[in-house]
Formats: sequence, structure tokens, C-alpha cells
Amino acid sequence: MGRVLVLGSLNVDLVTHVDRHPQPGETVLGEGLERLAGGKGANQAVAAAAAGAEVLMLGAVGDDDAGRAYVDRLRGLGIATEGVAVLPDQPTGTALIVVDEAGENTIVVAAGANGQVGDEALGLVEAAGPGDVLLVQLEIPLATVSRACTIAALRGVRVVVNAAPYAALPADVLPLADPVVVNEHEARLLAESSGLPSSLLVTFGADGVDWNGLRASAVSVPPAEVVDTTGAGDAFCGALAAGLAMGQGHEEALGGALSAGAAAVRHPGAQPDARL
Ligand code: RIB
Repeated sequence: MGRVLVLGSLNVDLVTHVDRHPQPGETVLGEGLERLAGGKGANQAVAAAAAGAEVLMLGAVGDDDAGRAYVDRLRGLGIATEGVAVLPDQPTGTALIVVDEAGENTIVVAAGANGQVGDEALGLVEAAGPGDVLLVQLEIPLATVSRACTIAALRGVRVVVNAAPYAALPADVLPLADPVVVNEHEARLLAESSGLPSSLLVTFGADGVDWNGLRASAVSVPPAEVVDTTGAGDAFCGALAAGLAMGQGHEEALGGALSAGAAAVRHPGAQPDARL
């Protein structure tokens, strides 16, 4: 069974709740403020571990209480953290998240240490091999993501790119991925910039997913049971990578990923029991 190497962000999510999102220039009052574990990279690592894979997290936190607590949390979940650098001059990344009554969110990320993830994170990718899966998203420097994908592909490691938040990757990177995972909106941006890659998995929310013509239906969640959609896409990607690393075919891996995405909207925060 292969391992899942997740290269990406670790954020403290500062979350408040509103009746409705403010318009530009408007102030609304939020209810409550929680500090939760987040960041697309770590969310995906936690989901991959929950799906049963052996997981290595690669990234960076600041040398602060939040960063130390986060590394301890991941270790407690059985995720290897040797690849998480502790950077003395940077704060741990922080995301400001506002969730409305329907569970829909807006997110602004202050990258902090995530913005400094460089080649030192790639040693573990150089030591990986066939059967392993490298899973990346785009909340760390694109140059590091690109080099990681190139090294992984040369070593026979399967590369999964979640192109979120959307950014144009160098044209030679996307063909290395199997698959590139995007939502509908990101798929449009991708088509307009780099063109569509040969292995493309598009998620359509309640309308399911399409992976190069292989369609799978979403696992429906009654609106009354949707608590918070934050991190649902990350849960999908983490579980998908886990399934692929465990040798599952596309259909089975998609099924596990869709179930994980549906489960993620039923709990507050981007990870289960996410309080930091
Ligand atoms: O995808 C959800 C995540 O996006 C949040 O946890 C937040 O930290 C941002 O990275």
C-alpha cells in the first residue's frame, strides 16, 4: 500500500457566524469566534488519514503556540510531521472565515509560514516512489508546488493537484497530474488560462463529479443537516488520494471521496473536532 504525501498549507481558522454575508462596505455582527485547525493542505492530510492511508504532511508553521499545537494535533491523528518546518520569523498561517446560516462561507487567508514553504520540504518527495501519491493544492508558493510535482513524476509517484485556490500553474505541471481536481468555477479559469489537462476531475457540488467522462453522483445531505461547508472539498481530495494510494480503482476512490465530502458538511469547521 502506498503513502499519501500532502504538500500544502496549515492554517488556524478564525471562524465566526452571521445571518447573512455583508455586502462590500457593509458591517454585520458575527456570533462567536472559534480557533479551529484548517488550511487546505492539513485538511486534506487529516481526511486522507481518516480514510485509512499512511500520511506524511509537508509544509510549515510559525514558531508560535498555534504552530506547535497544530503539529501536536497532526501527530495525535497518526500523521507524520517530520516534513513540517517550524519557521522562527513567520506566524502560523491564519484564515478568516465567515459562515452564514446556510453553511456557506467566505475565506480570506493570511499565508504566514505557508508563504515560505520552499525546497527543504521536498526531501520526502525525493524519497518517495511508485505506489505513493503526492497531493498538492495552491496555498503555498507555486514554484515549490511545481518542483514537487516534477520530482514526484520523475520518481514514479502519482501526482494529484487540487488547483485551489485557483492560480495558473506552469504549463508543464498540469500534464503530470492524474487527476487535476477542480470545481466548476476553477475548471472555467483553467480552460481560459492553461487549457484542460488530460486527467481532469470536476466537482459540481450536489450534481456530483466527472472524471474524464466517469460520472458519479453526490451523496445527498438534507439542507437542515448542513452545518458548515468549509473543508468539504478538502475532505473529498484527501479521501480520493487515500483511495488511490490504497490501490483502489477510479470508481471506488470516487465513492469514498464523495462520502467523505458529504460527511464534512455535517460538522463545524474544516476538520472533525477541529478546536486548536
Ligand atoms: O478549504 C478550506 C480551507 O481553506 C480552510 O480551512 C482555510 O484555512 C483555507 O485554507
